[in-house]
Amino acid sequence: MTNIAAFLYLVSGVLFILALRGLSHPATSRRGNLYGMIGMGIAVLTTLVLATPNFGGFVLIILGLAIGGSAGAYIARTIAMTSMPQLVAGFHSLVGLAAVLVAASALYTPDAFGIGQIGQIHTEARIEMAIGVAIGALTFTGSIIAFLKLNGRMSGKPILLPFRHLINIALAVLIVLFIIGLAVTESHFCFWAVVALSLLLGILLIVPIGGADMPVVVSMLNSYSGWAAAGIGFTLGNLALIITGALVGSSGAILSYIMCKGMNRSFISVILGGFGGEMSGSAADTSDKTVKLGSAEDAAYLMANASKVIIVPGYGMAVAQAQHALRELADNLKKNGVEVKYAIHPVAGRMPGHMNVLLAEANVPYDEVFELEDINSEFAQADVAYVIGANDVTNPAARDDKSSPIYGMPILDVDKAKTCLFVKRSLGSGYAGIDNTLFYKDGTMMLLGDAKKVTEEINKAIAH
Ligand code: TAP
Repeated sequence: MTNIAAFLYLVSGVLFILALRGLSHPATSRRGNLYGMIGMGIAVLTTLVLATPNFGGFVLIILGLAIGGSAGAYIARTIAMTSMPQLVAGFHSLVGLAAVLVAASALYTPDAFGIGQIGQIHTEARIEMAIGVAIGALTFTGSIIAFLKLNGRMSGKPILLPFRHLINIALAVLIVLFIIGLAVTESHFCFWAVVALSLLLGILLIVPIGGADMPVVVSMLNSYSGWAAAGIGFTLGNLALIITGALVGSSGAILSYIMCKGMNRSFISVILGGFGGEMSGSAADTSDKTVKLGSAEDAAYLMANASKVIIVPGYGMAVAQAQHALRELADNLKKNGVEVKYAIHPVAGRMPGHMNVLLAEANVPYDEVFELEDINSEFAQADVAYVIGANDVTNPAARDDKSSPIYGMPILDVDKAKTCLFVKRSLGSGYAGIDNTLFYKDGTMMLLGDAKKVTEEINKAIAH
C-alpha cells in the first residue's frame, strides 16, 4: 500500500512539474492547468483511499474538503480579477496557519503521526516541526498584513519602526534559539515561544514594506507558504506535500526574483522595506503644465492612418474590462492594413501575467503579444502607441529621473512612438503614486475617459 501511494504521489509530482512548465506560456497554460488539476486529483484521492488510517479520519477529511472546497469555490467565482493579489495573500495566510495547527497536533499527539511518543518525539521530527511552525507562523501574519495593505484597509505606506532591523535580527536569533530548545528538549514552552515570536516577526517584516513592493512580497510569501507546506509534509510523512511544497517554494522564489528584475529592485532592498512611501499625494505640481486633449475621432484618424500601432495595456484596462473592445479595435485596424502588436510590461496590472490573462480571454492571438525586452526597440518605428489604462510602466521618470522612487524600473518606451495616445480617466497617478511627465509631452494626446468606453467610441469612429 505504502509503495503504491508513494508511486501515485510521484506521478502527481511529475504532473505538477508539467503544470508549471505549461503555465510558463499563455499558449500552453490551459494544458498546464489541466495537468495540475489531474495531479491534485490523484494526490487527494491517493490520500483518501490509501493513506487515511480509519473511517473516522476519512469522514473528517471529506467534511473538511466539502467546507473548505465550497468556501474556496465561492470565493474564486465571486472575486474580481483586480482583487486577485489580496486573495492570493489571504489564501497564503491559511497555508501558514495550517502549518502551525498541524505542527501543534503533532506535538500533542505524536503517536497519531507516527513520530514517537509524548516526550520522545524523534529528533528529526522535532526539527522539521520547529522549522515548519516558524515559517508557517511568519507566513500567517505576514500574509494578513499584505492582505490588509493590498485591500486598502491598512495604509500602503511603509511603517518604519525605529531600530526595526535590530529588532528583527534579535527576534530571528531568539527564534533560532527556541527552535534549538524545542529540538533538544521537546519543551512545549519553546514550541509556543517559536510560534509567538514568528507571528510577531511576520508582522514586523511586512509592515515596513511599501505598496509598490507588495507584488514581490506576495510572491515571496507564496514561496514561504510552499516551504511551510513542505515542512508539514515531513511531519506528516506525506511525499506529495513535500514535493508540492518544494515546487511552490522554489517557483515563488524564482517569481520574486523575476519581479525584482522587472522593477529593477534588489531582493534584499525589498525585504528590508521602506520603499513606496510616496504611495499617494506626491504627484508633482502640475498646475503650470499643459496637456493635449484629444477625442475618439482624433484617435481613430491617427490609428486608421498609421502603419504600425503598439498597444500597451495596464491596470485600467482590467478595471474597465476593456479587453474585448480592444481586440475589436485591433481587428478593425488590421482590416485597414495596420500592423498591430501588444506590449506587456512584466509588472503591468496587479499580478504577474494579469494582462496576458485578460488578452487571452478576449482571444487576442498570442503571436501579437510581446514582452518588454522583445518589443521595446520597436516603439521608435511605431506611428501610434495606444496606452490603455497603463501608467507607471510607461513613466519616463523611471528612466530619466534619479530622484524618482521608481528610478531604474524598466519601462515601455512609448514616448519614442510618433504619437502616444493615453487612455485614462484623469491626470491622476498610478499605483506608485507619482506624476507621469509623459502626459505633458508634445507627442502625447490624452483621451480622458473610461478605457472601455473610449475604445468603443474609437471603434465606432473607425467604422464610419
Ligand atoms: P498603474 O500605474 O497603476 O496605472 C493604472 C492607471 O489606470 C491609473 O493611473 C488610472 O488612472 C487608470 N485607470 C483606472 N481605472 C480606469 C478605467 N476604468 N479606465 C481607464 N483608465 C483607468 O498601472 P500599470 O501601468 O499597469 O502599472 C502597474 C503598477 O502596479 C506598477 O507600479 C506595479 O509595480 C504595481 N503592481 C504590479 C503588480 C503586478 S505583479 N503586476 C502587483 C501589484 C502592484 P485614472 O484614475 O486617471 O483613470
